[in-house]
Amino acid sequence: MVPEVVFVLGAPGSGKGTQCSLISKEYDFVHLSAGDLLREERQRPGSEYGEMIEEKIRNGEIVPVEVTCSLIHKAMQNSGKTRFLIDGFPRNKDNLDGWNRVMFDKTKLLFVLFFECSRDICTERCLGRGAAGSGRSDDNLESLQKRFNTYLNDTLPIINHYDEQNLVRRISAEVAPEKVFEDVKIAFNNIGLKRIAN
Ligand code: C5P
Ligand code: MG
Repeated sequence: MVPEVVFVLGAPGSGKGTQCSLISKEYDFVHLSAGDLLREERQRPGSEYGEMIEEKIRNGEIVPVEVTCSLIHKAMQNSGKTRFLIDGFPRNKDNLDGWNRVMFDKTKLLFVLFFECSRDICTERCLGRGAAGSGRSDDNLESLQKRFNTYLNDTLPIINHYDEQNLVRRISAEVAPEKVFEDVKIAFNNIGLKRIAN
């Protein structure tokens, strides 16, 4: 079976990771966060990309797709599974083009989940996460401003690109996680995906 993919996009702090954990508990999807994979690669002893990744993350810039896409591809293969939530990807045109070059024919894109949330709420959440000890070098006001610029300039055009193909499922993400998840479930149930029986 060709691996099935859902891309998960939204501003920093819009709740992508939180919703992906909820989804992967109820549906048979593996959660792969591009940001988490990059942070892992940054920590890997001997990684030739560690410093470059740290600099990009701190500045809210996007790592070249060759690095990110190969981390995602490897994680997909290592999982032995066939359904994936790819969280925080594709973030810009380089990500999109790189994915399409290598993965388009190898996968089926089911839809794109897009979490909509105001900048004020997103900023508050990320700063809160930083204050609560996320340990992330980019949960500070300066990095957040850069992350938002990247989101507005580089990621929104990708959402528009998928919107033109009717692939975007917009979810209002300003309410509590359980409420957001109610809408998320509708998107999954609508394409006939079964919940995991337990
Ligand atoms: O999604 P998350 O907020 O964890 O991403 C953190 C950072 O990781 C981004 O601001 C960016 O620097 C980097 N990243 C990337 N390419 C992606 C996803 C994340 O360069 N596709
Ligand atoms: Mg995340």
